[in-house]
Amino acid sequence: MENELLIEEIKKLKAERNAVILSHFYTRREVQEVADFVGDSLSLCKAAVDSKADIIVFAGVYFMAESALIISPEKTVLLPVPDAGCPMADMITAEALRDAKEKHPEAEIVCYVNSSAAVKAESDICCTSANAIKVVNSIEGQEVLFVPDKNLGAFVALHTDKKIHLWPGFCHVHENIRGKDIEELKKLHPDAEFLAHPECRPEVLSYANGVLSTSGIIREVERSGSTEFIIGTEKEIVRSLKRKYPDKKFYPASEKACCYNMKKITLEAVLNSLQNMEYEISVPEHIRVKARKALNRMLEISG
Ligand code: 13P
Ligand code: SF4
Repeated sequence: MENELLIEEIKKLKAERNAVILSHFYTRREVQEVADFVGDSLSLCKAAVDSKADIIVFAGVYFMAESALIISPEKTVLLPVPDAGCPMADMITAEALRDAKEKHPEAEIVCYVNSSAAVKAESDICCTSANAIKVVNSIEGQEVLFVPDKNLGAFVALHTDKKIHLWPGFCHVHENIRGKDIEELKKLHPDAEFLAHPECRPEVLSYANGVLSTSGIIREVERSGSTEFIIGTEKEIVRSLKRKYPDKKFYPASEKACCYNMKKITLEAVLNSLQNMEYEISVPEHIRVKARKALNRMLEISG
C-alpha cells in the first residue's frame, strides 16, 4: 500500500479507537509524521501519563512501551513490532542486579529508563538522559549504583560528589562513535558546535560543546547562534535537523549510528497494530507496582 493510503487508514482507525501514537525521535520519518507526539524518553513518559486516549501505540522500543504501561495501567499499550528491543536494556537482569545490591548494600539504585520492568522494580529511582544528573543529586545517600549504561553513569559521575558504581552496559549505536571520528570532523569543520548524547564514550564526550538528551540537542540547535553542528547521536536526528533548518549545516559524528530496532517500526506495522490490537504489553502487577514507584519518583523531581 502507498504511504498516503496507509496514513489515511491509520488516522481513521486512531480516531475510531480513541488511540494516540507516541513516537521516539529515532523512528522513521513517515512514522514520526503520523504520530500525535514525538519526543525523548522523558517527554514520552509524561505524554503517556497526560494522554486521555484509551490506547497508546508506541512507536519506539520495548522498554518505552513498558514504561508507558507501568505509569498508566488503565490504558492499553501496543508495541507494533514485538521484538523491537533495546540491546542495552538486555545487558542487566533483575537477578544480576539483586546480586550487585548485596555487594553494595549502602548504595541507592539509579536505573536508566532503558531497562526492563523487573530491573526498575529492583531500583530506587529511574532516570533518563535528560535528568540523570538531577536524579542522582536528589538522592540523600552518598553512594549510587548506576545501571545499566556505563557511559551515562560516567558522565553523571563528573557532575556529582557521590560515589558512583557503574554497570558495564552500553548502547552499541553510541559506543561505535569514536574519539578519532570527532577529531577528524573537527579538523574538517573547525567552527562546528559538537553536540553529543551522554550514551557516547567519555573520550567522545570530552570534545563536546554540549552533552544533551535528544530533545536537548534539538533545543540547542534552535537556541544557538551557530550555523554548523556535529551531531553525536542516532542518524534520524541529523536528518530531521537538516529538514527543519535548511540554512544550517549538520554532520553526523558517525554515518553508522543507526538504531535498527527503532527502524523496525514501519507504517505497515503501525496500521496492523491498530487493526489487530497487537502487540499488547503486559507487566505482572507485583512488578508493575514496584517499578511505578521508581518511575514516579523520577517524574516528581522532573517537573
Ligand atoms: P533520550 O533519553 O534522549 O530519548 O535517549 C533514549 C535513547 O534510547 C537514546 O539511545
Ligand atoms: Fe537502545 Fe541505543 Fe537504540 Fe537507544 S539507540 S534504543 S539505547 S539501542
